Amino acid sequence: MSSAPVLSADSSTESRPTPGTDAAASAGSEWWRTAVIYQIYPRSFADSNGDGMGDLVGIAERLPALRSLGVDAIWLSPFFTSPQNDGGYDVADYCDVDPLFGTLADFDRLTSVAHDLGLRVIVDIVPNHTSSEHEWFRSALAAAPGSAERARYMFRDGTGENGDTPPNNWQSIFGGRAWTRTTNPDGTPGQWYLHLFDASQPDLDWENPWVREQMVDVLRFWLDRGVDGFRVDVAHGMIKAPGLPDYTPPANAGSMGGGIVGLEPEILLDEDHTPPYFGQDGVHDIYRVWRRVLDEYEGDRALVAEAWVEPLQKLARWVRPNEMHQAFNFSYLETPWEASALRSTIDSSLEVFGSVGAPSTWVLSNHDVVRHASRLGLEGENIQGAGIGPNSPHHPDPVLGLRRARAASALMLALPGSAYVYQGEELGLPEVVHLPDASRQDPTYFRTDGQRYGRDGCRVPIPWEASAPAYGFSTSGKSWLPLPPEWAELARDAQEGVPGSTLDLYTRALGIRAEENLGLGAVEWISEPGDATVAFRNGGITVIANLGSAPFELPAGEVALASGPLDGTALPVDTTVWLR
Ligand code: NOJ
Repeated sequence: MSSAPVLSADSSTESRPTPGTDAAASAGSEWWRTAVIYQIYPRSFADSNGDGMGDLVGIAERLPALRSLGVDAIWLSPFFTSPQNDGGYDVADYCDVDPLFGTLADFDRLTSVAHDLGLRVIVDIVPNHTSSEHEWFRSALAAAPGSAERARYMFRDGTGENGDTPPNNWQSIFGGRAWTRTTNPDGTPGQWYLHLFDASQPDLDWENPWVREQMVDVLRFWLDRGVDGFRVDVAHGMIKAPGLPDYTPPANAGSMGGGIVGLEPEILLDEDHTPPYFGQDGVHDIYRVWRRVLDEYEGDRALVAEAWVEPLQKLARWVRPNEMHQAFNFSYLETPWEASALRSTIDSSLEVFGSVGAPSTWVLSNHDVVRHASRLGLEGENIQGAGIGPNSPHHPDPVLGLRRARAASALMLALPGSAYVYQGEELGLPEVVHLPDASRQDPTYFRTDGQRYGRDGCRVPIPWEASAPAYGFSTSGKSWLPLPPEWAELARDAQEGVPGSTLDLYTRALGIRAEENLGLGAVEWISEPGDATVAFRNGGITVIANLGSAPFELPAGEVALASGPLDGTALPVDTTVWLR
């Protein structure tokens, strides 16, 4: 038994309520304020037709498993018509389903199965760019410079002699320059077009009212089909600074924020540190219009911003009362596994989102970042977007990573607001480091000549059945990315009903979260600055996460949940407990 300080159950004199944290006080009863939302990456969830690619029928068949996990909603990453150069975030038709994933009828059935199970359905919308295969872009290429068709995108003449220098110095988020030169019908070099991501993802010109109208029609198309909301891709993009001024992001800052993620908050609050292509003020007009569209529909429909904007004070602008409903809290995702840093991010999240009447969200993993079961076991820096592969300088410690991931998830699921769970994290899946080069598909990998591995390692299909081919992901055993042999023991059926499994931890956590209404609660701090624990009360539950280097002696209380075995009355390092 350690000599760690004893935390008494009635240490209320030490507790400091966080300003603006009482979710109940500011909240209405809308489902999205407290929902646990499960992200489905359709390519990798469940393949019903054996082609090695997940599909909508597969998703519908597996939905009861998500109901029994206890989530409230699903968010589907793109399944729209697409050449799949960026896993579907390159959309060629916003209002149809790619045959890889099924049909619109399959989507309707999926939605109705989900609704029958009590699960809300959020779909992705990708407004910053289309695919180069989109009919709008094809006709823009076929039309002359200065035409209405070209005005839907960001075409510009080059500079320098013969226009062979790109219009500015912007770099693509995926590596390489953000401009590609077109070829005229007579074979001569033509104008350049902007693509903040892959060359097959041309940016739309959102100053053009035509573009705005089209995208509202897209929203209506899916709202009419009964979706409960949208996750808005690159919600910090769309509007570019007038004149498209040159910009060089600071070295070593995360990529999705255009090089601002990861910098000091004091720097980021300075408006001069807004890249000319991300976080421009004009985007807010777009969301005010969208909000009014959603408000016309019955029920509570939600807009969720994927905006890599830091610090949180800036991000809160996306969720002002007449804009979006939620924004992903990437500051939380990026907070190191360190007690004071976590307490401070939790405090500022609740305060900042609370100040505009929005719930905070919490997220640890998604299809763009190293899975947290690996990230938290990684020494050294791993710049967002770089991924991990065989030659990466640092490799995760899988045991430490999973232990911390379970503790981090148990902490996250006790927080008030809305939480996101990325498919497979409930199984404790790690990042797949040893993918064959030939199977990699992330454009980041190709655009950086393999310097960055990119995001394939977190997108490997998930294992359902330990003894089936491809672990039950597909009916044929085919899989677009190979599942590692060691994943048999992580398969869902190997964990189901097994006390102590990661699936059991998530299921029990979500059950208690619902029973105790933790989503609508408030954080009442118990731990103090300097403590190695993150400890607070939320309603009837006391949560203690031990991030120190010694076991922590627990106060009296009934253990409702523990992320790992306890040592008598001591809470081991990297373990979280919920006490009643
Ligand atoms: C963010 C998405 O999450 C990511 O997967 C995609 O590559 C980019 N936006 C571009 O659409």
